[in-house]
Amino acid sequence: MAEKTLKQKVLELKRAKGALLLVHNYQVREVQEVADFLGDSLELARKAVEVNKNLIVFCGVKFMAETAKILNPQARVLIPRADAGCPMADMITRDQLLELKKEYPDAVVCSYVNTNADVKAETDICCTSANAVKVVESLGDRRVLFTPDRNLASYVGRKVNTEIIPFDGFCYVHAKFTVDDIKGARQAHPGAIVLVHPECEPEVVDLADHVLSTSGMLRFAGESDERDFIIATEEGLIERMAHELPDKHFYSPGRAQFCFNMKKIRLEDVYRSLNEEIYEVTIDPEIMAKARTSLERMISAKL
Ligand code: 13P
Ligand code: SF4
Repeated sequence: MAEKTLKQKVLELKRAKGALLLVHNYQVREVQEVADFLGDSLELARKAVEVNKNLIVFCGVKFMAETAKILNPQARVLIPRADAGCPMADMITRDQLLELKKEYPDAVVCSYVNTNADVKAETDICCTSANAVKVVESLGDRRVLFTPDRNLASYVGRKVNTEIIPFDGFCYVHAKFTVDDIKGARQAHPGAIVLVHPECEPEVVDLADHVLSTSGMLRFAGESDERDFIIATEEGLIERMAHELPDKHFYSPGRAQFCFNMKKIRLEDVYRSLNEEIYEVTIDPEIMAKARTSLERMISAKL
């Protein structure tokens, strides 16, 4: 099926079924184009709560679709590719977290939303890259067990006075950006503003002009008077920025980096998902109820 026809069919089917398409900034362009709402993980989590829809098709990775289901349990949530996981989320298991909680019984557990539902169920409060510093600040003086991203933990740790105990997870996509990539990009594009995602390694974060979530980067570039930006995150966001801000220039530091799981979902998969109502996200009700508490703490704090 030609892309145009497929796109029309997706839009028709979406309308006929009253479905909502939530799409993460890293999705391929053709999928971004059929979104009802396109955003970062915090915006998408908030949207999942606000909307009054019985059917949500979530184009992102599994932890994001699970988050939508946990926050809106009445809705049926579909993910077009059941194998679109996040390797960082899979780095920490519930058992590992339970062991750490025994080791640090006085610590409050803050987990990045990039975790599986059973880990969220053992978490006190969740955070995203957009609000991690504010979430940890809201916890007062208690030391914080921060899972699973050691780089986000390190970034937060440098901004707050609280002791942070990091888990040793990381994102293989953001870990590929190097100090030489940033320095080389600054040389190639003198005067460009460097925006870095906090999942990058600390020595890369140190070279940033601003450290922001994916949608934070888009907003910043849109509001800035500057025209040239070096963007250290996954390529899908850079495509969105170039499309929405055509009179500005966006450069990847070094080679463009791709999240292979985010790129698994194609327009064909979205069509099939809507048509056959696959793959439905299901979570054990007890885990779901516990995980909702940690997510709702983050959402209701409006941080
Ligand atoms: P954002 O919340 O900034 O969109 O990041 C999600 C993510 O998985 C980054 O790798
Ligand atoms: Fe996970 Fe990294 Fe892909 Fe984000 S970019 S979904 S953290 S693997």
